[in-house]
Amino acid sequence: MISILVHAEDEGQFMGEAELIANLIGLVNAGQETTGCLLANGMLRVLQFPEQLDRMRKAPELVGTAIEEMLRYDAPAQFVARRVTEAVEIAGVALQPGAIIAVGLGAANRDETVFEVPDKFDITRHPNPHVAFGHGRHYCIGNALARLEATTFFTAVLQKFRRILPAWEGQTPKWRPTLSFRSPVSLPVVLGS
Ligand code: HEM
Repeated sequence: MISILVHAEDEGQFMGEAELIANLIGLVNAGQETTGCLLANGMLRVLQFPEQLDRMRKAPELVGTAIEEMLRYDAPAQFVARRVTEAVEIAGVALQPGAIIAVGLGAANRDETVFEVPDKFDITRHPNPHVAFGHGRHYCIGNALARLEATTFFTAVLQKFRRILPAWEGQTPKWRPTLSFRSPVSLPVVLGS
C-alpha cells in the first residue's frame, strides 16, 4: 500500500515526503490502533459475559452481529472533532461558528432513546445503528476492512481454541489512560485446545 501511495499521481503531481508520512501516520492511527482496540474490547466482553461466548461458539453465524455489538459497546474511537459552521443550539447549549466540539461516539452508542437496555452486551442485538465508524461524509473508509479483520479473528480463535479464559487480575484489566482510543492496556488470556 505504501508503494501505491508513493506512485499515486494526480494530474502529474505526486505526494511529497511530508505529505506521504502524514498520510501513513494517519492510516496507522485510523486503521491499526482502532482495529486492535476492537479485537481487545470484543475479547474482553465475551470473557466477562461468558454466556455470550458460548452462544457465539454454538452459532458461529452470530459473529457478524457480535462484532457490531462489540463496536457499539466499546467504541474504539470515543470522540470525533468538528468545527461549527453556523450558529446552532444543541441541548440548550449555544454554539458559535468556529467553535471546535468533541462528539462523543461512545456516549451516543449507549443512548437509551435509541438502544434498548443500552448497558447490556448482547451479541444478537438487531438492529444496531451504532456510530462507532462515525456518520455522514466522513464515515470510516476502512469499515469493511475492520469488520473483515474482526470476523476473521473471532472465527479463527473460536475454531482453534476450545478454552479461552481471562488471565488478568481484578474485575477488568487496566484501561488506557486516554480519552481518544478505548481499549485495555493489555489483555492477558489463557488459550487451550
Ligand atoms: C474498528 C476499527 C475502526 C474504527 C472504530 C474506526 C473509526 C473511524 C471513525 C469514527 C471515523 C470518522 C472520523 C470523523 O468523522 O471525523 C473514521 C474515519 C476514517 N477511518 Fe476509520 N476506523 C476503523 C478502522 C479503519 C481502517 C482499518 C482504516 C484504513 C485502513 C481506516 C481509515 C479511516 C480513514 C482514512 C478515515 C477518514 C475518512 C474521511 O474523513 O472521509 N479506519 N474511522
